[in-house]
Amino acid sequence: MPFNHNDHYHDLLLRELPESCRRALEVGCGTGRFAQKLALRGIEVDAIDVDDHVVTAAREENSTLDLPRQIRFERADITHLTLTPDTYDYIACLASIHHVPFETVQKLRASLTTNGVLVILGCYREATLWDHAISLLAVPVNAIWRAAVFFRESRSGSHPDRGTQSPSAPVAPPSMSLAEIREGSAAHLPGRRIRRLLFWRYLLVFHNMKAGLGSD
Ligand SMILES: C[S@@+](CC[C@H](N)C(=O)[O-])C[C@H]1O[C@@H](n2cnc3c(N)ncnc32)[C@H](O)[C@@H]1O
Repeated sequence: MPFNHNDHYHDLLLRELPESCRRALEVGCGTGRFAQKLALRGIEVDAIDVDDHVVTAAREENSTLDLPRQIRFERADITHLTLTPDTYDYIACLASIHHVPFETVQKLRASLTTNGVLVILGCYREATLWDHAISLLAVPVNAIWRAAVFFRESRSGSHPDRGTQSPSAPVAPPSMSLAEIREGSAAHLPGRRIRRLLFWRYLLVFHNMKAGLGSD
């Protein structure tokens, strides 16, 4: 089935692109579908992932595309990588931040330009009755979306090979609850906004204001 929860939220993440975004970093890029969307907008993209197979697949697919900008795919572990401060206008982590210590966001923040934006499409551990209720509600909606996307893509013939030729990106269960993520991020990313999304995800958006302009 072609419905992917992370891909489903791409447009939401793209809405957070700063007006003049020249350079972006994607952390845990998997096979690079989101990085391609950034490059299509003429943005210079560095896309990293710790997994060799997905980086190789991402590079191969990228070489078949006619993008206005080439994406720099690199096999790298974000926890060991040294990022240059004040470099990226936009940093995106799609279902990847729970693979590393949450404090890694400090390193990402330091690498943002002034007015740069960090977006995290995150997974959280279900810990409350409300979490479980939302999760239950998501199940039938998920089934309807899957069917809708399947029929639409079957009819248009798009993405016929997805899931058969591309390797799957490694997954891991999230260890932090939404409350813990709210608490942990308040200190590291003052002024960040967090909202729960339906399909087992949350969206965190942080704007790197000039010193003294943040809130929280
Ligand atoms: C659930 S997958 C999501 C992949 C992709 N972002 C997507 O939306 O389909 C998480 C990705 O994070 C990568 N990852 C895990 N730990 C990492 C690390 N320390 N540094 C860089 N990437 C990492 C994994 O290899 C995997 O590709």
